Amino acid sequence: MLLSAELNNALNEQVGHEFGASLQYVAIAAYFDRDNLPVLARHFYQQATEERDHAMRFVKFIVDADGNLAIPAIPAPRSQFSSAQEAVQLSLDWERTVTQQINALMDRAIKENNHIARNVLEWFISEQLEEMASMELLLGMVRRAGDAGLLLVESHLAREGLGGPSEGEAENG
Ligand SMILES: [Fe+2]
Ligand SMILES: [Fe+2]
Repeated sequence: MLLSAELNNALNEQVGHEFGASLQYVAIAAYFDRDNLPVLARHFYQQATEERDHAMRFVKFIVDADGNLAIPAIPAPRSQFSSAQEAVQLSLDWERTVTQQINALMDRAIKENNHIARNVLEWFISEQLEEMASMELLLGMVRRAGDAGLLLVESHLAREGLGGPSEGEAENG
């Protein structure tokens, strides 16, 4: 057995969290889309795809490690937001929570001396650093711009993205 029952369960939970993030980002993208902010919408649709890729990475690992895949129920995402700032703040909070979840998975892998799991989780540890940094940057921009300045955020995003390797990696999966 490459996976203990506990680690297998925790990984199944994480598959749910990653699919949940994907749904949440689709809902946020749709909010921006309706609000005529196509660049922010595109950014969050991309984030949604990236989160689905994360879920699939965990699925692949569970299957490769001969574990049992059991995808949990995914809670409905939030779809109503009072401002762009609120939507981006929710995303940053989500990324921080996921970082704690990944850290807890890593703690367990270390405790169990599961080196294969540790190796898989290393990738997620670095990914979370990038995702928190870019979401924090976006929140700072949106906060500074205020509602009236969102078109400036749009043109900046369109021109330069949020920097960092996570942007380009979205397409490569
Ligand atoms: Fe993720
Ligand atoms: Fe993420």
